[in-house]
Amino acid sequence: MKKIIMISMSAAYLAVSGCGAQKDAPQLTPNNIDEVVAAMTLEEKVLLLVGIGMPGENGTQTVVGETNALVPGAAGLTHAIPRLGIPSIVLADGPAGLRIKPKRENDTATYYCTAFPVGVCLAASWNKKLIENTGESIGNEVKEYGCDILLAPGSNIHRNILCGRNYEYFSEDPVLSGMSAAAYIKGVQKNDVGTSLKHFALNNQETNRSYSNSKVSDRAAREIYYRQFEIAVKDAKPWTVMTSYNYINGVYSSQDQNLIQNILRKDWGFDGLVMTDWFGGDDAAQNIIAGNDLMMPGTDKQYNRITEAYKSGLVTDAQLNACVKKTLQLIVKCPRFKGYKYSNKPDLKLHATISRSNACEGIVLLKNNNDALPFTNQKQIAVFGITSYNFLSGGIGSGDVNEAYTVDMCTGLTNAGYKFDSHLQDIYTENLKLQQEQSRAAHTGKADSMFFKFVAQDINIDNSEIQRCANSDDAAVITFGRMSGEFADRNIKEFYLSDTEKNLVKSVCEAFKAKNKKVVVVLNVCGAVETSSWKDMPDAIIVPWMGGQEGGNAVADVISGKVNPSGKLPMTFPVDYFDVPGAKNFPYDIVANDKSKFGDKCVNRDSIENYDFTNYTEDIFVGYRGYEKNNTKVSYPFGYGLSYTTFAFSDLKAEKSGDVINVSVTIKNTGKVAGKEVAQLFVSAPQNPERPKRELKNFEKSDLINPGQSQTLSMSINVNDLARWDVNSFVVDKGKYKFSIADLSVDVEL
Ligand code: GLC
Repeated sequence: MKKIIMISMSAAYLAVSGCGAQKDAPQLTPNNIDEVVAAMTLEEKVLLLVGIGMPGENGTQTVVGETNALVPGAAGLTHAIPRLGIPSIVLADGPAGLRIKPKRENDTATYYCTAFPVGVCLAASWNKKLIENTGESIGNEVKEYGCDILLAPGSNIHRNILCGRNYEYFSEDPVLSGMSAAAYIKGVQKNDVGTSLKHFALNNQETNRSYSNSKVSDRAAREIYYRQFEIAVKDAKPWTVMTSYNYINGVYSSQDQNLIQNILRKDWGFDGLVMTDWFGGDDAAQNIIAGNDLMMPGTDKQYNRITEAYKSGLVTDAQLNACVKKTLQLIVKCPRFKGYKYSNKPDLKLHATISRSNACEGIVLLKNNNDALPFTNQKQIAVFGITSYNFLSGGIGSGDVNEAYTVDMCTGLTNAGYKFDSHLQDIYTENLKLQQEQSRAAHTGKADSMFFKFVAQDINIDNSEIQRCANSDDAAVITFGRMSGEFADRNIKEFYLSDTEKNLVKSVCEAFKAKNKKVVVVLNVCGAVETSSWKDMPDAIIVPWMGGQEGGNAVADVISGKVNPSGKLPMTFPVDYFDVPGAKNFPYDIVANDKSKFGDKCVNRDSIENYDFTNYTEDIFVGYRGYEKNNTKVSYPFGYGLSYTTFAFSDLKAEKSGDVINVSVTIKNTGKVAGKEVAQLFVSAPQNPERPKRELKNFEKSDLINPGQSQTLSMSINVNDLARWDVNSFVVDKGKYKFSIADLSVDVEL
């Protein structure tokens, strides 16, 4: 059925327009868009607003025989209208790097892309320049592989630590999220290619994502869930915004006129294009009426719906033309419109070094008793934890990257000159091979792909083996891995360590401590995990997150001391899952998207809590805002991260000039090794009505500061950044505002 309709639609188009430029038809330029719109037929207009459909298996899209193998593996294309000189443009994922097919039929060349650290690792660097630099490198690959729009960054708030896509987002805080997104967008767009800030908005769970209704107050939306989009839109001007799958208070975001026309465009001044998420929404006429300009990847149902809605008058001329205009305004900015001769040869070597150094800066040092790290005189290491041998470089879903290689942690440590306990290594690698074979069999040989990633289950190591290692090795490393991704939320049980993992960390620490040898735990994770029950056992704990293809080298750079870790937590590590604000209002017990439990789509919108709808009952008190309001003790707070050196903050100044408040603070390296530090500016506002005890308003990261040296960091905020949402506008209450630079890691607050 689909094919026939598609053919009829396109046959109609081809009949009307014929192929190739017609001599009297205006040819699109940046200066004649209105003229081109006026010359377009209805078929051409609707065709432009509906993508060509899911690209075929090999990236080819056969529409009436026309193959469209522009960039195999890209996520979507718009239709070309040759009669008017309108080319297709290519939209491709994703936040951790460009995702296209690495190999093509009848083509000996390869098209690998660089896998950079995932979003949460970038945010953990708290380094705007570094994030911009990452964006710039990814944008270069977008351009050199012939794509036009990168479907990134993802920046939804980590409302709950179990959301499957948190790994590709940034933080629980809207300022860290928004400023990270802005830096990323600026970097990518430096290449004159576009981005798609996503997913606008309140896509904070994967369970039943296309039908779930996010129920939220205006205040929580404006101060938290829209805020990071507002910061990024105003500061970085993304070429496009991608609406989210979910409903917001009962209306699909991609069909929500107030969200798109009033908030995004009028309040924030966004003048770019709005596109749906893939197959997002359920009524393309409502998308057009709401100002969601482009339907991706595009279906003939959407084409027919828009056509018939226009003919019936439901969609007006003005509404249709407004979307067509936005689409043409986007197309004329794209490299493909400008005829850019892309090389298919981006500098992957350079990008790999950038990926490695960025991964290093995202590593958070949570514990380092008695300077256990770096391992400078330890040579032979006992490497425990099966993830050490199956290192996780990135997450599942459209945010996956087809990289040429990934460096696992053992390779990284080898590269850094360390030796391993080979007997222990054999135990793990033997078992790993077995698990991989079983997994392949279970997944009918499906190799890792964007939909599936093999994650090994940890195994018990008997005490005699651990004792042998403690006797013969110099130190121990234990890696715990946690994977997550699109299409499913994390299951509550894997927030906690498994019994196997608990036994491992206990036994190894006891055995090595008895020999006065150090143990470091490496958390190769997608987000927060339980730490408080075991963090007293090892000498050190580091969190490399999923650091991209060079992740293993980055961990080794930090363990060896080649790089002094300077990351800070972009989200709180709670003691227990049920301490999370709104913990019960999340599908933590539903094996996500388990339709067998609830059927494909619940007709009654309000039937099943946290599946059909989710109440954001914690309102604005998300993340640290909630833990601090509830005086909940946490294991590691938002913004926490240690260093191999120590810093002192001094001379905090805040001066207001007009609507801008300029803040400066001096950081001195009071330790023995060079390092970087983050100045996190928090503001505590008057508490009537109740507000969070403090809120992050800006941050800056220092350069590498040598021992004894200082650096003064400056940042500014606008008076309006102090506002709270009051019914239908932002207000800045009169009263006393406390500005503080805090480093909770060392309990300093200026
Ligand atoms: C996916 C994701 C979105 C991605 C798009 C194209 O479903 O939600 O982030 O960019 O579709 O793959």
